[in-house]
Amino acid sequence: MLGVQSQVEAALARSLPPAEAIPARLHQAMRYASLNGGKRVRPLLVFAAGELGAAPPERLQVAASAVELIHSYSLVHDDLPAMDDDTLRRGRPTCHVEFDEATALLVGDSLQSLAFELLAGQDFADRGRQVEMLRLLARASGSCGMAGGQAIDLEAVGKSLNQPELELMHALKTGALIRAAVLLGALCGNALSDADSAALDRFAKRAGLLFQVVDDILDCTASTATLGKTAGKDAAAEKPTYVSLMGLERARDFAGDLRRQAREALSPFGERSRRLLELTDFITQRKF
Ligand code: IPE
Ligand code: IPE
Ligand code: MG
Ligand code: MG
Ligand code: MG
Repeated sequence: MLGVQSQVEAALARSLPPAEAIPARLHQAMRYASLNGGKRVRPLLVFAAGELGAAPPERLQVAASAVELIHSYSLVHDDLPAMDDDTLRRGRPTCHVEFDEATALLVGDSLQSLAFELLAGQDFADRGRQVEMLRLLARASGSCGMAGGQAIDLEAVGKSLNQPELELMHALKTGALIRAAVLLGALCGNALSDADSAALDRFAKRAGLLFQVVDDILDCTASTATLGKTAGKDAAAEKPTYVSLMGLERARDFAGDLRRQAREALSPFGERSRRLLELTDFITQRKF
């Protein structure tokens, strides 16, 4: 895990414009928002899914960087006063606090563009496959994916959603990018059969929902110091979550069910899915 994390850190550092390049303040802010750690779960998923089809590491690295840049952009915008209004992220002041709101908006815009520039710029032998990957990442990021989920999240403040509504919100705002990470990793390697692709998609969807259910649980059980972001924000902001819907204990049971379903979906892959299985456990048991 550490190997992938440091590889991705280095790849991102190389891909981002140098801090002194004009406009320097924007480039400093882009680097601040994306080189400041984070668990790098999406890159880890890209690399783990790459093992299903013996994907070459240089391709995986590009796909991993692209997804992580979109993720970093989503966090910068998620923290803005117009959205969750958060001042702490990954143990440091959020981008708009450290810089300013206008810069944070532009950081998000620019990280998103850079993600697609990277993915389009790599020389994949199979151009058709590359276009499929670009389209997958675009759809996962936009109004039918992450941004759409964020819109539902904002509309849902102060309301109580039922379980299917909450599942849709989580599947979009967080699940879509997690799913994209898994599918992009697989698309970097040898083609999977239709049955294996369907099994992997089921895994990716369960893992994506699991990730946000655990995020909901951690928001109300972990400390600000451990999380590196302000704890207790969901209840304070009246956000519907799995904890507000079903209570802490049932939310934990539900996370356990999702973990099982995700692991089961990987059964056709045998030993090749060992790293995805490990990551499923990591996502379930993570402490921040
Ligand atoms: C936080 O994501 C936002 C959600 C989608 C729940 P992560 O928990 O992956 O954040 P970092 O990248 O590790 O900081
Ligand atoms: C964030 O969900 C989802 C995206 C950033 C797309 P949250 O708002 O719960 O994430 P945190 O808790 O601020 O990391
Ligand atoms: Mg949010
Ligand atoms: Mg938030
Ligand atoms: Mg949260």
